[in-house]
Amino acid sequence: MLRPEHLMKRIKAYFSRIVLCQLLGMMLSSALVQVGCLSFGFPIFQPENVGELILSRNSQVFSDAIQVTPDLSLDMINVSGRAFYREQLKLWDSRRSVKASFNSSFVLNINPRTSPGGEGLAFILAGHTTLPDNSAGKWLGIVNQSSIGLSDVIAVEFDTRKSYPEDIDDNHVGVDVKSIYSIQQQPLGAHGVNLSGGTDITATVLFDAESGKLTVLVSTLLMLTVDLDLSKLLPEDVFVGFSASTGVYTQLNSIRSWNFSSWEVHIEEKDPNLIWLWILIPIIVLGGIAAVAAICYMKRKCRKEQGLDEDLQIELQIKSSSNAPHKFRLKELVSATENFNSSNKLGKGGFGTVYKGTLMNGKDIAVKRISKDSRHGIQDFLAEITTMGNLNHKNLVKLIGWCYEKAQLFLVYEFMPNRSLDKFIFSGNIPSSAQDLPLSWERRHSIICGVARALDYLHNGCDKRVLHRDIKPSNVLLDSEFNSRLGDFGLARTIQISDKTHHSTKGIAGTPGYMAPESFHTQRATVETDVYAFGVLMLEVVCGRKPGHQNGPNNNDNSIVEWVWELYSRESVTEAVDTRLKGDFDMDEAKCLLGLGLACCHPNPYERPSMRSVLQVLTGEAAPPFVPYEKPHFVWPVTQPALEQDLNYQTSISQCTTITELATGR
Ligand SMILES: *[C@@H]1O[C@H](CO)[C@@H](O)[C@H](O)[C@H]1NC(C)=O
Ligand SMILES: *[C@@H]1O[C@H](CO)[C@@H](O)[C@H](O)[C@H]1NC(C)=O
Repeated sequence: MLRPEHLMKRIKAYFSRIVLCQLLGMMLSSALVQVGCLSFGFPIFQPENVGELILSRNSQVFSDAIQVTPDLSLDMINVSGRAFYREQLKLWDSRRSVKASFNSSFVLNINPRTSPGGEGLAFILAGHTTLPDNSAGKWLGIVNQSSIGLSDVIAVEFDTRKSYPEDIDDNHVGVDVKSIYSIQQQPLGAHGVNLSGGTDITATVLFDAESGKLTVLVSTLLMLTVDLDLSKLLPEDVFVGFSASTGVYTQLNSIRSWNFSSWEVHIEEKDPNLIWLWILIPIIVLGGIAAVAAICYMKRKCRKEQGLDEDLQIELQIKSSSNAPHKFRLKELVSATENFNSSNKLGKGGFGTVYKGTLMNGKDIAVKRISKDSRHGIQDFLAEITTMGNLNHKNLVKLIGWCYEKAQLFLVYEFMPNRSLDKFIFSGNIPSSAQDLPLSWERRHSIICGVARALDYLHNGCDKRVLHRDIKPSNVLLDSEFNSRLGDFGLARTIQISDKTHHSTKGIAGTPGYMAPESFHTQRATVETDVYAFGVLMLEVVCGRKPGHQNGPNNNDNSIVEWVWELYSRESVTEAVDTRLKGDFDMDEAKCLLGLGLACCHPNPYERPSMRSVLQVLTGEAAPPFVPYEKPHFVWPVTQPALEQDLNYQTSISQCTTITELATGR
């Protein structure tokens, strides 16, 4: 891969080389052009001038003139000839954007040998010097039948014979392009000029490259002006000269003198600025590159500031995992929640506010807007989304998507129509409608089983052990059939609780009332602290009470554990069951649930059953664990139970978990 700075260096080197070459080239070529601009003069033609000319087989220098067709006795019928100046004219130069203007002034003499004479003489510009075969007669040595329209030749003809219908007469001048059929012609008789008079006639062919006009003067009279872009019709380098022919009728076609001069014309005024152009182009290009680079840098910086860079990385990470949650655009969520309208607010949790939303496809969602002050460790947090997205259990709220824009994180969950468990279980909530009536015993039992299944899945069932860290009724959501779904799992791992009501536990994940006694010492979440919180939740659901004192101002203690344990020690634990059930519950199940709840809330984390054991008890596969009638005191540091103490448990030793410092993902 070419790094940007290397690329820049290369570009710089390249352009500086181009500029140098261009400057050198211009200096050299302009020097050459001054010399090379074609100009010459022949006041008369002498045999020694032959070396300066290119003569075709029938042409010769004779009698102080070029005899374009031979001046020989009988072999004059049906001949053509050509005579060129040896050096080529640079008619145009695309590289330097120049074209040549010229003035070709000559004296011609046509002397008929038959009556009338024939055929004619022409001044020509040609890409090559070769005399075309069969170019005698009407062809004037310009082209033949087969090269018509194909040959690189432009001619100014001085025609002495009307040899085909389009020919105006037998004494005219015309301009021919790759042909003998003139694009424009002018009879000369009206101007007092007779080509066939055997007299010297001065003709001038002027080409002005700037205007693209070719002008023909005969005897200083302007005869023709035609528009011609010679650079489109002829090659860059052309030969200049004459051609002539005879037919059945013959004549002497001679050029007695010739002055030719040419000069360069800069086209479209490009050339004077060319040097500046070649200096400016690299500057502009380099400037552009620098500007683009600067913009890219700024954008990158900006993005980095907004955390979008991390976002990209994480997005890639998330996308690479299977079953990945969908990435939403912020505008989708804004429109789904009606711009996070307070009427759509479902609740406020530890990590942010939850809004109800409806997607374009009509699907209901719950959007959790993570509090801004939770932003710390966003990288870890987003990484957690991958884990959460891959968790799939019928008792877990499914994370369906996420969004991270404008430094704000949003998590998108499936919408739970019956909202959270805390709305139903607490006796403080006075039922006002049928839906608010206390949950039946069966429902409570099934809710507890569902949460236990979800927690067992997180602890033991998925690829990576996941701690919930914040089990409480408000995190247990109820679907339309009142099946419990555990939500907010995995969140507490990297996000500190920011909710003001949780100030007393700053730095510790979890909610007071659900926190195991050892967590205040260890400041850590473990499998055992999750089990403890689950135990409190069980007691709440059965008793319909908040974990703290119902009458006191402080609801944040775990007094529900003390209260149930006291009833348990008096062997009247079923008195703890929610009175709103009006006795409509299974006595044995109630005893089992309350005992299991107390076992989970054992002050010694080593004595708490694992979620696997809890589930086995709930499903009847195992007997409830032994719970001492006297609530044991919490001792720090925690002592690991001796083997003989273990024998007191009715659950098997293997089902007891040890305090595990969990690596959930890394
Ligand atoms: C000259 O050319 C003409 C036309 O091509 C032809 O008719 C005639 O016979 C030719 N004459 C000689 C002597 O070649
Ligand atoms: C063309 O050249 C002839 C001969 O050198 C000269 O007399 C005449 O003035 C020139 N014409 C122009 C327009 O330069």
